[in-house]
Amino acid sequence: MRPLRSRSRKHRGISLGLLALRLAAACCLQSQGVSLYIPQPAINATVQEDILLSVEYSCPGIPTIEWKYTSPWGVQKKIVEWKPGTQANISQSHRDRVCTFDNGSIQLFSVGVRDSGYYVITVTERLGSSQFGTIMLHVSEILYEDLHFVTVFLAFLGAVAAVLISLMWVCNKCAYKFQRKRRHKLKESTTEEIELQDVEC
Ligand SMILES: *[C@@H]1O[C@H](CO)[C@@H](O)[C@H](O)[C@H]1NC(C)=O
Ligand SMILES: *[C@@H]1O[C@H](CO)[C@@H](O)[C@H](O)[C@H]1NC(C)=O
Ligand SMILES: *[C@@H]1O[C@H](CO)[C@@H](O)[C@H](O)[C@H]1NC(C)=O
Repeated sequence: MRPLRSRSRKHRGISLGLLALRLAAACCLQSQGVSLYIPQPAINATVQEDILLSVEYSCPGIPTIEWKYTSPWGVQKKIVEWKPGTQANISQSHRDRVCTFDNGSIQLFSVGVRDSGYYVITVTERLGSSQFGTIMLHVSEILYEDLHFVTVFLAFLGAVAAVLISLMWVCNKCAYKFQRKRRHKLKESTTEEIELQDVEC
């Protein structure tokens, strides 16, 4: 009973945390000038998936958009900065792994476990007011799919073995029948025996 309760308490803790995050986001979203909408603030992924960190902003004029990555241990790295409609300035660590969209979203290609963490977007309008939002990404190994592959492979081997065994059985049956027929014929006439011997040579 006790582990169950503690797990549910932990779960409640997590959902309270998420709720606080969402409330904080919702508050920020309503400051003047810039507004930001994040449809999916938490994403679970498996390695090698392409992940869209989807956002949508609205503000007067053209803003500057910046994405930063914060690892679970608190190390922060800049990913990319750009003004919609112009070329993005992508940091060395994410070159060739990121593409940007005009609505502020970015896509990460072929994520790894080490890409897990917090992705913070800051949208700054021309006059200086800004808005930020966070997306939490959790990337896990594909253990389940490995197991799935092994299961399929074993099933395939089993099927092949079954086919081979039934083929052998059929061959065996045929050979036995053939031998019986031959013995029968041998008994019937000695002339045929000579013929058969000719054939065998
Ligand atoms: C992600 O996985 C965790 C458990 O690892 C789960 O609690 C959470 O609800 C999942 N979130 C989403 C968005 O699927
Ligand atoms: C932002 O644009 C991308 C690419 O066009 C799209 O897939 C995504 O859904 C958009 N995000 C929102 C929140 O509309
Ligand atoms: C791109 O970003 C780097 C580091 O943030 C900066 O030093 C460089 O001047 C930027 N380049 C452009 C073209 O904005």
